Amino acid sequence: MSSESLHAPRERLSKHALRLHHALVSLIEELDAVDWYRQRADDTEDEALKGLLLHNMREEMEHASMLLEWIRRSDTDFATHLKTYLFTEKPILEIESDAEGNGKPGAHGFTVGTLRDENR
Ligand SMILES: [Fe+2]
Repeated sequence: MSSESLHAPRERLSKHALRLHHALVSLIEELDAVDWYRQRADDTEDEALKGLLLHNMREEMEHASMLLEWIRRSDTDFATHLKTYLFTEKPILEIESDAEGNGKPGAHGFTVGTLRDENR
């Protein structure tokens, strides 16, 4: 049960924190599944089983991507970071440096989203 992994009393958490928790725990589970399927596929000698495990791994990647998109749409801080780093080509640390140096809302700055009372 996901409430077992809460780190504060449930009644003290905002609706946003609880929804984000459910999405993050689910994302972690999907990423674990990707890792497990990948390793088992590499470890098996049976080509049919390998194909099935890789197929399942790709499905878990799809599930993880869907959750990440939900997180992006639901959390402005995540959205800011994802917008900064995803689907870019420059060296990642250079992107961070640019984001901070240019004074863009970005990698480690305050965002308006952190100030909003999100559906308490
Ligand atoms: Fe899944």
